Amino acid sequence: MSVNFSGLKALHAAHGERHILELFDQNPERATEFSAEADGLLFDYSKTQIDAGVRAELIALLSAAGVAEKRTAMFEGEKINDTEGRAVLHTALRNLDGGPVYVDGLDVIAGVRQTLARMDDFADRVRRGDIVSFSGAAFEDVVNIGIGGSDLGPVMAYESMKPYVDGPRCHFVSNVDGAHIHDVLNGLNPQTTLVIVASKTFTTIETMTNAKTARDWLVAAVGEEGVSKHFAALSTAKDKTADFGIDPDLVFGFEDWVGGRYSMWGPIGLSVMLAIGPQRFAEFLRGAQAMDNHFRSAPWEDNLPAMLALVGIWHNQICGHATRAVLPYEQRLLRLPAYLQQLEMESNGKRVSMDGTDLPFDSGPVVWGEPGTNGQHAFYQLIHQGTRVIPCEFMVGKYGHEPDLAHQHELLVSNCLAQSEALLRGRSLEEATEIMAKKGFEGAELERQARHRVFPGNRPTTTLVYEKLTPFVLGQIVALYEHRVFVEGVVLGINSYDQWGVELGKELALALQPVLAGEADGAGKDGSTLNLVKYLRT
Ligand code: F6P
Repeated sequence: MSVNFSGLKALHAAHGERHILELFDQNPERATEFSAEADGLLFDYSKTQIDAGVRAELIALLSAAGVAEKRTAMFEGEKINDTEGRAVLHTALRNLDGGPVYVDGLDVIAGVRQTLARMDDFADRVRRGDIVSFSGAAFEDVVNIGIGGSDLGPVMAYESMKPYVDGPRCHFVSNVDGAHIHDVLNGLNPQTTLVIVASKTFTTIETMTNAKTARDWLVAAVGEEGVSKHFAALSTAKDKTADFGIDPDLVFGFEDWVGGRYSMWGPIGLSVMLAIGPQRFAEFLRGAQAMDNHFRSAPWEDNLPAMLALVGIWHNQICGHATRAVLPYEQRLLRLPAYLQQLEMESNGKRVSMDGTDLPFDSGPVVWGEPGTNGQHAFYQLIHQGTRVIPCEFMVGKYGHEPDLAHQHELLVSNCLAQSEALLRGRSLEEATEIMAKKGFEGAELERQARHRVFPGNRPTTTLVYEKLTPFVLGQIVALYEHRVFVEGVVLGINSYDQWGVELGKELALALQPVLAGEADGAGKDGSTLNLVKYLRT
């Protein structure tokens, strides 16, 4: 099924330049009518150009693209990742009390629950000090070695869940740059450190290289015979974890129907579970499950993932805004933008549709961001006054976790709301002129100074509001974005669950190693690459 954006493009051409403030003037109920709510999450998209007509056209895309049918197919284990012949069932990992889900005729839920129970048991015993290191000491530190989906989710969740951490401290190593593992291991005691090798495939060169370095570090301290007590593995490739010498009891497996960037709900989340405990990890899963249920049952207009996706399509494919900023006013969500970069850009950064033909429109946008208020003092200048429009996705909690610092939370909230208000309202030349005239400027200099202080306004933003960043809420937010990616992918007609675009660079890096080592001459390489090799190696 392919969609046609011509109706929406016509609406954009007709109304695209109209000021969003006019929409508020025309409809006093706009704020509530252009918001959707789910289990304590409020998504406000009223500060966009979307009106009732645009929304109706956007919602019509969902049936044209067959989103409801594809949603059922995903949740029911059909192989919707058809370039890899795989089901897409990260939702099964948080299906804590739902019915069976079949892949190739077999119910996968029993296995999911069994693995979760093993993780719970392992985490409980490590946290209680029942599972100890080779020297009999309790584990105080956990090092998760992984990259991409085997790193970004856990590190983001660990940072987000800091108020709930009452287990071992977690550290994350991802980069193949030796500086990363060096700096992490440098501050740790190998006698009390548990290393988790997190790799779906157990072949990723960065992870395997860092795992070997960690192994050498442990061997130097605890000897060969101690290593098995200090390593756990999270992977779909149990044969490879065995080859690495990891005790099978400390291997937590998952299946190929869990994509790397969708994997933090299962074994890949083990570091987070060790830090916050199985009960809170279960709350995290319950939050995601609540979003799954909402996504499956809410009418489109009230459906947060669907509306978030449609706002994204409106801004990217219809209005032509090539990037979007994710701006959490929540310091502990500092790694969320990086996490969403992989989730959104690895999923929807494609150039052909499911049938292999070229996409007739742009695919996923560039996603970027930083927590507020820090971003305000860095790149917001461009968002307010640059020549390009950058739709912004704000998020903020009603409460922080520091009741004694509630006054700081008030400031945080006021900054968040002020930014979207400023982007909406702007400041006209007349207003700027009045301000500068009061400061004593006159004539041509008054106009020149005033023009620098004009804010065009009419810049679209959305705001996601939650009560407090608990494990449940984090689960809701992440699942919201996962399903947003799903809906956008279905509307665009692409496969959101493969990632062929990462392969070529990996292959070429392998081929370059002997050239860099002087063992191959680099025949067939381009002149620039060869010149850089020469410069780096002489
Ligand atoms: O390079 C991309 C990628 O395949 C991601 O999709 C994945 O999350 C990451 O590498 C890590 O893969 P693995 O968990 O198999 O080590």
